[in-house]
This record gives sequence, C-alpha cells and structure tokens, in this order.
Amino acid sequence: MSFVNKHYISDTHFGHQRMLDMQPRPFTDIHDHDEWMVTCWNDVVGRDDIVFHLGDFAARLHETDRIRSLFSRLNGRKYLVIGNHDVDKKGALHPTLAALAWESRPEHGLRTKDGGHDLWLSHYAARTWPSSHHGSFHFYGHSHGRLPGVGRSRDVGVDVPDVDFTPRTFAYLTRGILETENLKMRATRGDVDAALAILDRAPDVEPDPGDEL
Ligand SMILES: [Fe+2]
Repeated sequence: MSFVNKHYISDTHFGHQRMLDMQPRPFTDIHDHDEWMVTCWNDVVGRDDIVFHLGDFAARLHETDRIRSLFSRLNGRKYLVIGNHDVDKKGALHPTLAALAWESRPEHGLRTKDGGHDLWLSHYAARTWPSSHHGSFHFYGHSHGRLPGVGRSRDVGVDVPDVDFTPRTFAYLTRGILETENLKMRATRGDVDAALAILDRAPDVEPDPGDEL
C-alpha cells in the first residue's frame, strides 16, 4: 500500500477571468491560468492522496462539461468545503459541483485530524474554532492572502505566497505558525540569540486586511 499524503488548497477560481485583474496572478490568459494550476496540483498530489479544497473551486459553473473535465484531471481523492462562489443564488451547492465525485458530501465546515492535531476547515476565517483553546489548527480561504491568521490559523488560498497555486501539506502550512510560537516562547525565556535566529528564517509575508472577494 502506498503512503497517502493530505493536501490543502483554496480559492483556485478555475475559469474565473476576473481573478486575473483582481489578484496578482501572473497570467493574461485564463486557460494558461487553469493549466498552470492543474500542473502544480498534479506535480504534488498522487492518485491516492487526499486534497481538501476550501472553496471557490471554479467560475462559469453552468459549463458542466468543462468543470467535469477539469475535476477529472486533478489527482487525488477530493473533499470540498463550500465557498461563496460554489453556491447558487439560493445559497445551495451549485448542481454542477454537487454532481462531481467528491469523497464526501461538500460541507460548509469540516473537522479533521492531521499530524496528530485537530484541524478545522472552513471557507471563511474564524476568530475561534473547535478545540482552539486546546491547540487545534484552523485553515481558511476566501480572503486571498489579505487577512492574517490569529493563533494557530492561516489562509491556505492559492494567492498566499507560500501556497503559490499548489496544494500544500499540513506540515508545510503550519511550519511558520510553530516557528512563531517557538520564537515567542524562547523570547519569553530571555533566549534572545535563539529567537533572532528563528526570526532570520521567518517568511517575509505581511498581508493587509482588505475587501472581501
Ligand atoms: Fe475566493
């Protein structure tokens, strides 16, 4: 039996032309944009791997054949946490997405475990979440890199620099959070030299809160 990895991603917005103007996505052609993300996805996700998509999967959902074809080209067993672009005008999951072969029925929130940690997944960022006071983590999307996480939470959308259009693992996504915690702990202890060493390795990312997308 092969080893199964879990990956997380959000806000791919496949086929969403307006994303190329609203976000700093380095594409002029939406087809190139989509193909690049398919390549990034399949470069890291194996056929039996698991992928949690945290919403805003694609635009032009009425183009059923295009969405179905795209979905079938993406490796892995896929779960969807519903985003605001994944629903119809009444707020129900769009029928095109509902008909795809997700591993389980798409939900607005999902509680799971990874790396021995509790993990809460939702499209929208939360200020608190299940077991947050007992060390659980929270991944979200929607904000396209403009809403910094609080505590053990973070945006896992494709526009965040260290996500970079690619599904990422729990270990990869939480590395910065744990390093920051380590830094604070060491600083509290007065271990200034160790704290500065960690600071040197911290990613230089300072997203600004902005309009919702
Ligand atoms: Fe989005």
